[in-house]
Amino acid sequence: MTSVADLIADKRMIVCAGSGGVGKTTTAAALGMGAAALGAKVVVVTIDPARRLANSLGLRELGNEPQRIDSSRFTGHGVEMRGELWALTLDPKRTFDDLIEDLAPDRRTLEEVLANPIYQQLSSAVAGSQEFTAIAKLYDLDLHGDFDLLVLDTPPSRSALDFLDAPARLTGFFHGRGIMAFLRPAGLGGRILGHSTGLAFALLRKVTGVDVLEDVSVFFRALGGMVDGFVARADRVAALLSDPATTFLIVTSPRHDPVEEAIFFHRRLREAGMPFGGLVVNRVHEAPVIDGALPPGLAEEVGDALATRVATSARELAALATRDAANLAHLCVSLGDPPIVIVPERRDDVHDVEGLAHVRAHLWGDA
Ligand SMILES: Nc1ncnc2c1ncn2[C@@H]1O[C@H](COP(=O)(O)OP(=O)(O)OP(=O)(O)O)[C@@H](O)[C@H]1O
Ligand SMILES: [Mg+2]
Repeated sequence: MTSVADLIADKRMIVCAGSGGVGKTTTAAALGMGAAALGAKVVVVTIDPARRLANSLGLRELGNEPQRIDSSRFTGHGVEMRGELWALTLDPKRTFDDLIEDLAPDRRTLEEVLANPIYQQLSSAVAGSQEFTAIAKLYDLDLHGDFDLLVLDTPPSRSALDFLDAPARLTGFFHGRGIMAFLRPAGLGGRILGHSTGLAFALLRKVTGVDVLEDVSVFFRALGGMVDGFVARADRVAALLSDPATTFLIVTSPRHDPVEEAIFFHRRLREAGMPFGGLVVNRVHEAPVIDGALPPGLAEEVGDALATRVATSARELAALATRDAANLAHLCVSLGDPPIVIVPERRDDVHDVEGLAHVRAHLWGDA
């Protein structure tokens, strides 16, 4: 049985990836908790609109800046906190504005960009891409936060693959022909727009009073000075993601669809040259102690009706355990026998420190 300790030793960044709803946020939080308990200064970056992490840590909410979780919250749950646990919930729009603030060469450009209608549209759209903003945040934490370990939770539902591609896509965007044309010194008015387009913009301004052309050109002029900064960030994060001190843990449940997605994701990781650390298989059903026949005398003791129900539940649980074991075996073979850490299905959701402490104990193999 593998302990997660073997998978994260000497690592500085752990990415918890996997398909929707399998327990990425739970795993990231429990991992952070466990590593912090052992003495590290850890930050868990979560992308958790449902605020489940904040709730399970007993907080109303987590902001866009790392917030230290009070160690006393863990006392009484078998976790002695020797290091520090910090956490944040990514706020994409805020992160994007912060990024612009960082990159803007001066106050005037910053104000010009922030007040620009095109920026306001674009920033909401780009900020909607959580992969992009997660990357920007990582860059910041890596550079400016003095953390020993960054644990990154990846976005729900959206394919974690987008996350892998984000740095390259960003760089590609700025090197692309479309944007380079916009950034050319002559600006929009001259070469790019034909005469008729220019007329259309003029008409638009006359009718609506909004000078689209002016907005667009001011925006791109201001942005032009920031391209190098964007590209440098994307490059650094790409390097960080493929660094030997980074590891990707694929989180999955032992059900059919997540297992297939885990296999696919593993292949993509390998193709992208990203370091794969191992699997966390969460919510595994364990075979019941009662296997087959009920213990002799049970029916007499609890009555026939209850004994029948016990037998039925035991049979159902055994079937689930068998199904999980088969899916797990398929997963192991497909990935060439990778390190696997198993976390059993709990009767309750993981919604508080106690639940997280349980998951932590299973991750470290000391449950
Ligand atoms: N081992 C477990 N036993 C029982 N419930 C669990 C277990 N692990 C996670 N859960 C529950 O499953 C739900 C989904 O977990 P979580 O939010 O961590 O998944 P996720 O992969 O981050 O989901 P999303 O893709 O939506 O972000 C939560 O309600 C959580 O409490
Ligand atoms: Mg999540």
